[in-house]
Amino acid sequence: MNNQDSTGLRGLQKFISSIECFRDHYLEQISEIDSTNSELKRRIDEGVCRKFILIADHQTSGRGQFGRSWWDNPHECLLFSFHWDLDHQERDDFPITLLTGVAVWKALRDLTGDEEKIWLKWPNDIMIADSKVGGILVEGFSQGSEILRIVIGIGINLNGKEALLPDGEKRVAVSSFFPKIKILDSFKAILAHWGHLWKFRSEKSALKELCEEAAKPFWKKKVKIWENSSAFFFEGFPEKLTEDGELIIRLNDGSERKINSLNRIKLISP
Ligand code: BTN
Repeated sequence: MNNQDSTGLRGLQKFISSIECFRDHYLEQISEIDSTNSELKRRIDEGVCRKFILIADHQTSGRGQFGRSWWDNPHECLLFSFHWDLDHQERDDFPITLLTGVAVWKALRDLTGDEEKIWLKWPNDIMIADSKVGGILVEGFSQGSEILRIVIGIGINLNGKEALLPDGEKRVAVSSFFPKIKILDSFKAILAHWGHLWKFRSEKSALKELCEEAAKPFWKKKVKIWENSSAFFFEGFPEKLTEDGELIIRLNDGSERKINSLNRIKLISP
């Protein structure tokens, strides 16, 4: 990181270690890498036991949901991933993707002072007004039978350029709407909120309500949903979440449909 000397890095490591659940994580910063998620996955494949938080200035092959790519403008975006271990019981807690989405939403609201523009498009898109500013990529990689080691990756276009994504969605920057936020301030705020929410992971009802609040603008928008990895789709209005974080959609014919995060979902009426 350009402005990150070793004293700064030590300070950041100290901050991270002060968050209870990240006590054992080792911070690493890198100027360029293919993808922070891919790098942390490689370390799992190599049998490295240590848990890392890896933050990069630039990714050359950043990855998004559904095999899409995730590009960035160097030094203008927050790009990081961290290892996380889930035991059997924790796998039944509130979904980690949604918990992460709420942490990012809370952090951006704190840093911008915003109360209405920033929201969470279920399950893992961070939106400002009707455009995407950030996303979350959670990938699970087994390690033994008891513990599932996962990689949680977060990318936020803080100060980069706006762009039209291949699927027709618009990507904006936080700085197009709010004064510039420092990358490391957003990094610290997200980790702090994540650490706090993790303590409540088994309180599904409270987390579901928080998630519904984070997704407030979503409940008025018409969406198109694709069946799992197929060309078939249906349309309707998001209505509420279940305690397991699944989304209930009210279809045009009045019936209900429950969908999970494997379904691709797109806004059709902003
Ligand atoms: C999405 O919205 O499709 C998810 C985007 C996730 C991007 C982040 S950037 C840091 C980490 N490394 C990656 O290659 N992807 C995630």
